[in-house]
Amino acid sequence: MTSHPLPLVRAAAPGRVNLIGEHLDYNGGRCLPIALDRRTVATVAASPDGRHHLHSGELAWHGAVGERADGWASYVVGVLEALGVRDPLAVTIRSDVPVGSGLSSSAALECAVAVAVNACLALGRSDEELVAACIAAETSYVGAPTGGLDQTTALFGRPGHALLLDFADGSRTPVPWRPEPAGLRLLVIDTKVAHRLALGALRGAPAGALAGASSGDGGYAARRAECEAAARTLGLDRLADASPDDLARLTGNELRRARHVVTEQARVAEFVDALVEDDWATVGHLMTASHASLRDDFDVSCAELDAAVEAARDAGAAGARMTGGGFGGSAIALVPVGRADAVEAAVRERFAEDGYESPAVFPVEAAGAAEVVQIS
Ligand code: GLA
Repeated sequence: MTSHPLPLVRAAAPGRVNLIGEHLDYNGGRCLPIALDRRTVATVAASPDGRHHLHSGELAWHGAVGERADGWASYVVGVLEALGVRDPLAVTIRSDVPVGSGLSSSAALECAVAVAVNACLALGRSDEELVAACIAAETSYVGAPTGGLDQTTALFGRPGHALLLDFADGSRTPVPWRPEPAGLRLLVIDTKVAHRLALGALRGAPAGALAGASSGDGGYAARRAECEAAARTLGLDRLADASPDDLARLTGNELRRARHVVTEQARVAEFVDALVEDDWATVGHLMTASHASLRDDFDVSCAELDAAVEAARDAGAAGARMTGGGFGGSAIALVPVGRADAVEAAVRERFAEDGYESPAVFPVEAAGAAEVVQIS
């Protein structure tokens, strides 16, 4: 417990879009995310009465220090527990990262809370330690077996850059991401599919429901287990270490999951090379090829994501793919600036024709990492 009065600290953390390298983090591979210009803001101050008090819009959770939290509050309390916080705190959340959209609203929440609490209680934790605490909150406390991509991006994102994250050696390499000078823009197409499911969690469903909703009600955990099984068959610690030749030793689902991992690893390398060479046509093709692999081999797409990608491509996108865990959530499309409105209209028309809920479509840029924005 801290004996001196606590300051009020406000911190913001971004959502993310993964450009390519999907489902590779927990396989020891490489991912290429950008931090988004949409953020979650956590305000942390001393509690007036010895209990934790959490507020997010109209939602509230109150509990003793150490008391188990469920639903959305579990992401906050999970971080407090992972950081070993024993001071009762008042935490207020607001966010413009859409919930359940596959844009990592949960990691943005965890990281905003972690950064604010770290400053408020003068814990002195490094950004690496905060990433580890946020991952522990999500995997151990909430119970979603995710791989660390989202939290790492929220704490290390850089404006105007993607981050090449290597989950084999832990390295983070900034790679310039500037589509606008090439006459291109990155659009997010939020299919709203996971959003509907996530609302259940916000109404007080059990811990893990929010993460489950944005990762396919157990589908994510199943994919992870299948990848681990394929790695075991090959005698490898990490499936991303498999070579194309190793695929001949696998069959059935293990083969299909591994084929995605092996080909996606290669696509990440080609994508980075293409960015360095300003070869945006190749960047676009690799995005579309990544989507096909996630749809056909990894089985984590859905009809709405496929429709978004197809309609965007037909209307002139250079490339398009689902982003994040899949089973709903968002797609991204790299579009010529002059075609952005036409691509949006085409996607909306296709969704209306197919009887899907109207998607949210908005441009995104590579923004910076989580930060303290106010101390008073
Ligand atoms: C979710 C998880 C990440 C990562 C992606 C897929 O966003 O939280 O750890 O596995 O899915 O790339």
